[in-house]
Amino acid sequence: MKKLILALAVIATASYANPYAKCVSCHGANGEKVALGKSKIIKDMTKAEFIASMKGYQDGTYGRSTKAIMQAQAKGLSDADIEAMANQIAK
Ligand code: HEC
Repeated sequence: MKKLILALAVIATASYANPYAKCVSCHGANGEKVALGKSKIIKDMTKAEFIASMKGYQDGTYGRSTKAIMQAQAKGLSDADIEAMANQIAK
């Protein structure tokens, strides 16, 4: 039980400290993967492109065939979160 609580605490801390943590499984630790065989390689996007696409998923103005997946991911992220991730991942 203690181990479980510790693991949950680590996950919670990681996702607060780093909003990109929940993106790693699909996009890779550094944004180097083609997520689900569909996305662009996000580390090759400019910061402006990254931010515009995330905001576009939030307001429904951006995306292609699998955009519903990203709309769910982008929901609830603050502008500050998006900017921090752009600085971390985009070029
Ligand atoms: C379940 C897998 C999955 C997760 C988790 C995920 N993404 Fe995505 N992402 C995708 C897919 C699939 C696309 C392409 C969607 C489309 O058709 O528009 C995409 C597209 C993007 C794009 C635009 C690139 C393009 O292809 O136009 C950005 C930027 C992005 N994701 C960032 C993120 C960030 C930041 C997170 C975490 C908050 C995240 N993604 C989490 C699967 C995922």
